[in-house]
Amino acid sequence: MPKKIPEIETKLAHLGLSPKENFGIPNPPIYRTSTILSDTLAQHRGEITKKFSYGRVGTPTSHAFEQSIASLYGVESCISTPSGLSAISTAILSVAKTGDHMLFPDSLYGSARRFVVSMLPKMGVDIAFYPPRINGDISTFFKSNTSLLYLESPGSLTFEIQDVPAMTAAARSLSITTMIDNTWGTALHYPVFELGTDIVVEAATKYIGGHSDTNLGIAAANGTHGKELRRTAIALGICAGPEDLYLGLRGLRTMKLRLSQSAENGLAVARAAEGHDAVISVLHPGLPSNRDHTIFNRDFVGSCGLFGLVLKPEISQTSIDAAIEAMSVFYIGDSWGGYESLIKQAHITEKLRSLRPDLPEGHIIRIYTGLEHSDDQMADVITMLDGLR
Ligand SMILES: Cc1ncc(COP(=O)(O)O)c(C=O)c1O
Repeated sequence: MPKKIPEIETKLAHLGLSPKENFGIPNPPIYRTSTILSDTLAQHRGEITKKFSYGRVGTPTSHAFEQSIASLYGVESCISTPSGLSAISTAILSVAKTGDHMLFPDSLYGSARRFVVSMLPKMGVDIAFYPPRINGDISTFFKSNTSLLYLESPGSLTFEIQDVPAMTAAARSLSITTMIDNTWGTALHYPVFELGTDIVVEAATKYIGGHSDTNLGIAAANGTHGKELRRTAIALGICAGPEDLYLGLRGLRTMKLRLSQSAENGLAVARAAEGHDAVISVLHPGLPSNRDHTIFNRDFVGSCGLFGLVLKPEISQTSIDAAIEAMSVFYIGDSWGGYESLIKQAHITEKLRSLRPDLPEGHIIRIYTGLEHSDDQMADVITMLDGLR
């Protein structure tokens, strides 16, 4: 009888281990290979099956990582890709065909938007952006040829939470495929398949890798969607590097602890910033004052350490530059999900949004709380806010 693996912590500790095949060593080795040899020409022709056929198509290292993620999400299939962005593009291409219409939230992650805008029309796919909080009214955007409803909750930079059950139900009634970027919630804090989504994509670069030293992506699904993900990745020649896959698998072991701590720190800093004079609003769905808090509470198991602040518009750019550059705990930088706290200013240009974001006028600052002590993080953010004029 296989052992029952009941809780997420236990899964994270056990998934992907292969001591029986590897001399008792629990972690699967890093297989670096292009070639996988056959015993006979018949096997090489595919007449006799073998588990792995070509390095780019799969190795025990990629298999261990992908199976672990599939199991965390409770789905049949997962592919791994060399970045979060390539997971997004591969997954979208697994659905796309000439003549389709696809819908994306206006709060779509910027690089995904660049892919969608620059590549899909060239393939004869018509794209449109919808207001991220359209929720059940998404049906008004559906056309007879809509093939994909893409979701991202919360949205990038502006952190809108979407009513995913309402949106996926509307899409399902017309056989429209739904896909969600779940990099913020992850399999641990946002059960997107239970909420009706067909395909999940995630930048494993963030919380799964967790140490700012990996570029990695995943896309996972059941049934035909899962098969199409695999076929598309193979057709495109998409494969993640073996070291990154190993780091992704290793990251899973501590992911729950890191994610919980980072999320707790984020809420502490968000609460501390909430009452500050320089701040108009805090874009964190986990705060009871947040307009999306009810849906967040209903659908999420927890938050993460990434959120935004809207600063008063009269604050000068010079003083923002000086106050942020003087910070001692937070580094200025993109990406997130690692151990170190990061801060940046978000510039929401027309290229990034075609609809006006539903936000008060002001400067948007994106904060990521890593694993330093939250007292140090709070002190750094409050000193920065105190320095604004
Ligand atoms: C929400 C979201 N999705 C996807 C990505 C892309 O990840 P990667 O940098 O691994 O391509 C990012 C990166 O910042 C992100 O924030």
